[in-house]
Amino acid sequence: MPADSSVNFSLLHRTCKLVVLLCFLHISVTVFFYVRSMDVRFAFVQNQQMHKTAPRTNSVQAPVINRTGKAVVVPGGQNAETPVKSLEKCPETSPLLVGPLRIEFQDPVSLEQIKSENPNVQQGGRFKPKDCLALQKVAIIIPFRNRDEHLKYWLYYLHPILQRQQLDYGVYVINQDGDVTFNRAKLLNVGYTEALKEYDYDCFVFSDVDLIPMDDRNTYKCFSQPRHLSVSMDKFGFRLPYNQFFGGVSSLSKEQFLKINGFPNNYWGWGGEDDDIYNRVVSRGMSVSRPSGEVGKCRMIRHNRDKKNEPNPQRFDRINHTKETMNKDGINSLSYQVVKVEKFDLYTKITVDVGKP
Ligand code: BGC
Repeated sequence: MPADSSVNFSLLHRTCKLVVLLCFLHISVTVFFYVRSMDVRFAFVQNQQMHKTAPRTNSVQAPVINRTGKAVVVPGGQNAETPVKSLEKCPETSPLLVGPLRIEFQDPVSLEQIKSENPNVQQGGRFKPKDCLALQKVAIIIPFRNRDEHLKYWLYYLHPILQRQQLDYGVYVINQDGDVTFNRAKLLNVGYTEALKEYDYDCFVFSDVDLIPMDDRNTYKCFSQPRHLSVSMDKFGFRLPYNQFFGGVSSLSKEQFLKINGFPNNYWGWGGEDDDIYNRVVSRGMSVSRPSGEVGKCRMIRHNRDKKNEPNPQRFDRINHTKETMNKDGINSLSYQVVKVEKFDLYTKITVDVGKP
């Protein structure tokens, strides 16, 4: 073979190899991009299908109502125990109310019976409605000493009423330790303070242990003004004994209570402390709200006067000076010692040493 034809052949051979290589490269690049585009299409279709079948998950998760009544967001959007459920607010007037009630104290009642009739009341006397979010968190404060029989009737009648009123409530019995003279208003201040240590209450109902409402429309909650609830007591012929009467059962929001510096601590023995509270309310520019005489009917359990709760002879003088004394005597000057806290099925009992006169 001549030398120049062998050179030509070698050149042709190399050119062919280069073309084949380029073709291979071209095909590889084409295949690579084709496969990639298929991947993307597949992922898109899969994603679309997921959106059709699975529930939407938002980055802002629905709040869950926890035991303290607060709306919380659970990480991951799931409640560990139950499915996420947000409660609607309870209505302004509970649909469960029945109106006038028959209240009698002839037949004895037992704590076991009350417990079995109120299965939804939690330890310590706590309750909140299951189906709606209560409008108010109410601490019921009962000043107490040696009145267990009365307390049973109170629990027997009040637990069903308070549940029908759709309140988020707790019952606190503030038991005065020892046998020095009774001090109702100071025990009420203690109840306010101790209840707030346990839960974020926004309303306080202060009730004598022997007073039972005769109509469940008399809601044990707070209003825009301090409320007097026991307006027509059988003891007074179902009418107010005098216009300024604020004794028996009353309710104040936390804000109203603080506005009057709580209650006086220095009324030892029976009488006057409720008049002092009335003076405080009025002197802070508030008025007393009341239910109608019909709705506000209530019965008092008859009893003999307690020992160590004789009428306080200083009360007339004290109620004449509420305006001067209320700024330094009240929740800002309260001092006491908690002796015992007991969580019973139907109430929390806090025994306290409130000192002596
Ligand atoms: C007392 C009050 C008492 C009212 C009704 C008044 O004289 O000061 O404390 O609630 O009588 O018994």
